[in-house]
Amino acid sequence: MSPGDRRGKLVVGNWKMNGSRAANAALLAGVKAASPFAAGVAVCVPAPYLAEVAAALQGSAIAWGAQDCSSHDAGAFTGEVSAAMLAEFGCRYVIVGHSERRALHGEGDRLVAEKAAKALAAGLTPIVCVGETLAQREAGETAAVVARQLGAAIELLADRIGDTVIAYEPVWAIGTGKTASPAEAEAVHAQLRSRLATLSPRAAAISILYGGSVKPDNAASLFGQANIDGGLIGGASLNAEHFAAICKAA
Ligand code: 13P
Repeated sequence: MSPGDRRGKLVVGNWKMNGSRAANAALLAGVKAASPFAAGVAVCVPAPYLAEVAAALQGSAIAWGAQDCSSHDAGAFTGEVSAAMLAEFGCRYVIVGHSERRALHGEGDRLVAEKAAKALAAGLTPIVCVGETLAQREAGETAAVVARQLGAAIELLADRIGDTVIAYEPVWAIGTGKTASPAEAEAVHAQLRSRLATLSPRAAAISILYGGSVKPDNAASLFGQANIDGGLIGGASLNAEHFAAICKAA
């Protein structure tokens, strides 16, 4: 068995700010009906729905998580949700540093790393997002940008980086219908993996997900790459049939 065979395949739906109690129930019923999946599967849902989603998924093999957490433990941080609160709802995962939070909420590399640290301290698995903008790609800066983003997480988390999941999401591919080609994505994943491999075999063995316009018709070719261990799925995770097909491709 090669080291690659031991890495967990994982598909995570990021619902973003979508859903309603009725729509969520229908979506989860559809995904559950298509399960079990060979890969690990999770959905990261808006925080107000966590209790209901937890109840709907209880007893299934599908995990759930949140889309962000605070870099603080508790206190006067209006609107924030702590990692410990998410853990109380049975969350397994929390996305940190999604490009939408970096771009729309001014989150920088250090803050993202601090959020990941809080998630780990609460017993959650942070899904740390990295990725370049179109301008950065066109300027030939992709490798430097993702190295800096991953580097900030490594600097703060040290060996606990081995308890995270990394998601490479090129910003220009998110919600645009433009996917990185399997070779383009693989090149970045291989770079991230080799950086992790300089730390420890455990760090090198974490799951690195690809995100950005993953659909049922392109999932298998992306997930077939040596260093792509699954996906972080936006739009297609809102359709039970499409999400299940992507989960089956992993
Ligand atoms: P899309 O799959 O809609 O492109 O979104 C990707 C994403 O941002 C997942 O976090």
